Amino acid sequence: MSGIRQLPDTLVDQIAAGEVVERPASALKELVENALDAGASRIDITLQRGGIDEIIVSDDGHGMSPADLSLAIRRHATSKLPDSRLDEIRFLGFRGEALPSIGAVSQLVITSITSEEPHAWQITVDAGRVAPPQPAALARGTTAEVRHLFKVVPARLKFLKTERTEQGRCLDIVRRLAMAWPQVGFTLTGDGRVLLDLAAQPDGDVGLQHRLTDIMGRTFGAEALVIDARRDEATLRGLAGLPTMNRPTPASIFLFVNGRPVQDRSLLGAVRAGYGDTLPRGRYPMAALFLQLPTMALDVNVHPAKSEVRFRDASGVRSLLVGAISAQLRDHGVQTTAEAALTATRLFSGSGRGGSRGFAAPPAAGYAGPVADWQAPLTAPVQSSLAGDMPPAARSAGNQAGEAARDDTLLGAARAQLHKTYIVAETRDGITIIDQHAAHERLVMERMKAALTADGVAVQALLIPEVVDLPSDQRQAVLDEAGFLAGLGLEIEGFGEGSILVRGIPAVLGTPDATRLVSDIAEELVELGGSQVLEDKISHVLATVACHGSVRAGRRLNDAEMNALLREMEDTPNSGQCNHGRPTWVRLSLADVERLFGRR
Ligand SMILES: Nc1ncnc2c1ncn2[C@@H]1O[C@H](COP(=O)(O)OP(=O)(O)OP(=O)(O)O)[C@@H](O)[C@H]1O
Ligand SMILES: [Mg+2]
Repeated sequence: MSGIRQLPDTLVDQIAAGEVVERPASALKELVENALDAGASRIDITLQRGGIDEIIVSDDGHGMSPADLSLAIRRHATSKLPDSRLDEIRFLGFRGEALPSIGAVSQLVITSITSEEPHAWQITVDAGRVAPPQPAALARGTTAEVRHLFKVVPARLKFLKTERTEQGRCLDIVRRLAMAWPQVGFTLTGDGRVLLDLAAQPDGDVGLQHRLTDIMGRTFGAEALVIDARRDEATLRGLAGLPTMNRPTPASIFLFVNGRPVQDRSLLGAVRAGYGDTLPRGRYPMAALFLQLPTMALDVNVHPAKSEVRFRDASGVRSLLVGAISAQLRDHGVQTTAEAALTATRLFSGSGRGGSRGFAAPPAAGYAGPVADWQAPLTAPVQSSLAGDMPPAARSAGNQAGEAARDDTLLGAARAQLHKTYIVAETRDGITIIDQHAAHERLVMERMKAALTADGVAVQALLIPEVVDLPSDQRQAVLDEAGFLAGLGLEIEGFGEGSILVRGIPAVLGTPDATRLVSDIAEELVELGGSQVLEDKISHVLATVACHGSVRAGRRLNDAEMNALLREMEDTPNSGQCNHGRPTWVRLSLADVERLFGRR
């Protein structure tokens, strides 16, 4: 018996639609991309119930004639591949399937007018059934209305999340597209509430910076590092946040390739790699980065929602990202975020005069998440149970750094130590506050890294080897890495069933508690798993080691020690944040202080 038969066209369309239109946000993405492809300078969007009931997208682009309207809702009909070449894609769309797909699973009404027509025309598709174009009223451009999405595919409807979640995804899509198209004004209204209102910006870097500020917040816009790099035929520009602005998920890394928002694990990985160990494990930077490549160097036809691309030279693109970010961080590594300083000023100002306006900037309306998440709190650092010691340099350096330091150094001359934790220093035009533990931890780590690349880390042999009991998975993890750990100055070997023997420890650490050190590293290694790249492993283990060798909060320092610490910070790359991504110091300008006292 032959059970094979040709499926009816409407069913074919519904099946195909499943690929393109997964949820309201994916329908919205297609409609906004069409508006951008039509040269719109303004796009207005309204949603009802997270887009489930209704999505309306209006643009002022070039519009469609009635003949084009009839074609636009047919499968595989596109105006965007004039030369029929898939390696010459210059528009966001190219497949000619978005509108028929949306029309197959909703009620789709498109109204459009061109400069050649005396009036607008409207075409309707209802669950795949097309009605011919009718005269209609519209001043300019195109309006696409989608109602009752997935009413005819209840299975799909069941997979939607709450209206709130769906609305959030719609907002996210529009934000992303808006970042890549600063010259276009956007509004987004959900159930009558304005969720986004972005003014059109001028072409060029300033416009881009304004748009990114509107979407990612004023602090990000003002303090992120400007990225502008090129490698062969690829260029990269945008903003990369300071490491201190780190976040718990990669959701604030926005990547674009030729104006197309992409979500690509390997590119995300490259961004993360560019930050290297300036970020703590499990934290991600904020960044908005725009790659521009010749169309030939790229395959965009690899994902139904076009959110992934393939590069002809993937490793070149990766290097461009890693190199551009790490170079900028290296040059500005000692910077810290003024936001942290401002948090501090707010703490200082207490209930005082209330609105010292002008510096306590609230996040911009379009800001994506809670600021508190990355506004590093100035809490007391983690207490190490070990008596760390200052580096020899700190002990010998005199107070000659004192007066002279004030005028020409970044961090200034140390004036006092408060609560045995914070160093307060004076610069020519302000005050700096340094978290001594956080700062020192970073210095130990950078010193170990430098020693590693030079001639290896000096080992201090233990007179009496120490026996450390470990759970079997941890024991195995450290023994597997014994060679690697020896390179870092930690010499261990197996001992009996459930223990290891520590024979030597890194000399920079002074006299740490070897048992604690080894069990912390063991835990770290188990958590990292076997798949980590060596570099990552090194920096994580170094961070753990450094924590054990650092000046505790609570240790009294003399002037010479304090100044030596500051001078070393100034000379050390990446010393603006500790190994956990918190700032190591904050700055208050005299102007800030004057504002605090209402003098300005
Ligand atoms: N807002 C609009 N303004 C002007 N023309 C439009 C608009 N939306 C769609 N079109 C026209 O309709 C055609 C079909 O749109 P559709 O989104 O289905 O396909 P596409 O954009 O060509 O490719 P893709 O399926 O990859 O999005 C487009 O090629 C374009 O010519
Ligand atoms: Mg399209």
